[in-house]
Amino acid sequence: MSDKIKVVVCSGTACFVMGASDILLLEENLPEDLQGRIELEGANCLGYCKDGANGKAPYVTVNGELISGATVLSVMNKIREIAYA
Ligand code: FES
Repeated sequence: MSDKIKVVVCSGTACFVMGASDILLLEENLPEDLQGRIELEGANCLGYCKDGANGKAPYVTVNGELISGATVLSVMNKIREIAYA
């Protein structure tokens, strides 16, 4: 089992146009202390955009925890929270 923090970035249309494309570049912008700590993957529509019950796009999960209206900063903060828990 990998001890990396799993980051799944929704790359469906709604999320992509709302900024998921920036988040997909997260690995290139990670601060030194977090480099090599994450496993990042893009995904097709995760289904959260369908009914408006989950906040707004873009959606990212970090170790299964949903972040709505995700930004590079909010995703990085969540990664840090988990990495140093
Ligand atoms: S496009 Fe991202 S949850 Fe649907």
